[in-house]
Amino acid sequence: MLSGKTILVGITGGIAAYKICELIRMYKCANAEVLVVCTPNALNFVTRLTLQNLSKNNVAVEEFDIKDFNPEHISYADRADIMVIAPATANTISKIATGVCDNLLTSIACAFTKPILIAPAMNCNMWENPLIRENLNKLHCEILEPESGYLACGYEGKGRLCSLDKIFDKTVELLKYKLLNGKKIVITSGGTIEDIDPVRYISNYSSGKMGLALADTAKNLGADVTLITTTDVSRKYNVIKVKSALDMKSAVENEFDSADCIIMAAAVADYRVKEISPRKMKKTSDDEITLTLVKNPDILKDLCDKKKNAATADISASAPLIIGFCAESENLIENAKEKISKKGCDYLIANDISRKDIGFSNDYNEVTIINKNGGMKKLERADKKTIARGIFEEIYG
Ligand code: CTP
Repeated sequence: MLSGKTILVGITGGIAAYKICELIRMYKCANAEVLVVCTPNALNFVTRLTLQNLSKNNVAVEEFDIKDFNPEHISYADRADIMVIAPATANTISKIATGVCDNLLTSIACAFTKPILIAPAMNCNMWENPLIRENLNKLHCEILEPESGYLACGYEGKGRLCSLDKIFDKTVELLKYKLLNGKKIVITSGGTIEDIDPVRYISNYSSGKMGLALADTAKNLGADVTLITTTDVSRKYNVIKVKSALDMKSAVENEFDSADCIIMAAAVADYRVKEISPRKMKKTSDDEITLTLVKNPDILKDLCDKKKNAATADISASAPLIIGFCAESENLIENAKEKISKKGCDYLIANDISRKDIGFSNDYNEVTIINKNGGMKKLERADKKTIARGIFEEIYG
């Protein structure tokens, strides 16, 4: 995903330095070349050997650590496509903001002409200090603000390093890596809501998290994204809020002609109430009541049929790639294979909803991507953004 890119990771002396080992691993897994520069204090929190092993490069701390180049800070600045300083302490932020170059990291930052991404982490009172705020405002860098929570110093407040996913995604965005550049991706998410009367409805436990992760990831990968969702989402890309399966169907169909890819991650109710009561239904003396349900359209199947018909009419050139999701509580692969042939989609993403550690409402997932020719690829348990990235890489990589 990041092959051909060189990322210069700058680590300063804060407790969150240990987390950067994992960030380096994430960059390496995405095939980036990783260079590491530490302030001398950073090595109090993480060892040079660990960083060397993970980055597969020498770790530079002092001006003359870099053996092959001359002058050192300029050569590092020239080689890297982006500099990511994480965690960035109040001290280093202030030095960079005021042009102080008293160590290799701050010297490189001063000479760096490409994007610099800064992820601060510090005690909450330091973060709120007006001097630090003033220095932050002076920086012409991308800043990923720290998050609130329990801090290693014992305080609770804003100061924790933001998530590594955020740093990774921002790095990708800044490098303008555009796997999905020029593609219009339409994603559905959430569980549809089928009204019974003005105060009651039938729905399901879908949180919409997987669809949202797909939409956010597609956006970061350069796609023109439309998210059709039953959940409340506020994003910079196009979000269309829908309620029922019928609403969702017409919203998706409106996008069919312009989409390069449609991903049905929504949990669409298979049935809806035959007659929605216009007034709140009153309790009766009966111990039982019967609601008559009628079948909802199978949106995914209808999209696939439409694509097939377009192909028959020889106007397939603009037909979108169609991807379904498949929620199963038993015989995952067997049922998924049956479903892909029944529905006729290009790919089906199968996940096991019987497991409590993945899937519905969880931040994690584990999926098997099945293509229409029977090929399969398993993506091991990971947070939903990583899974989303894996799906796009498998399909478009
Ligand atoms: N789907 C759809 N319209 C429906 C039901 C499902 O578009 N009325 C889509 C879902 O968005 C998903 C795929 O079909 O991409 C599979 O959904 P799933 O619930 O696993 O399967 P169903 O077709 O509903 O079959 P069953 O509930 O019997 O497993």
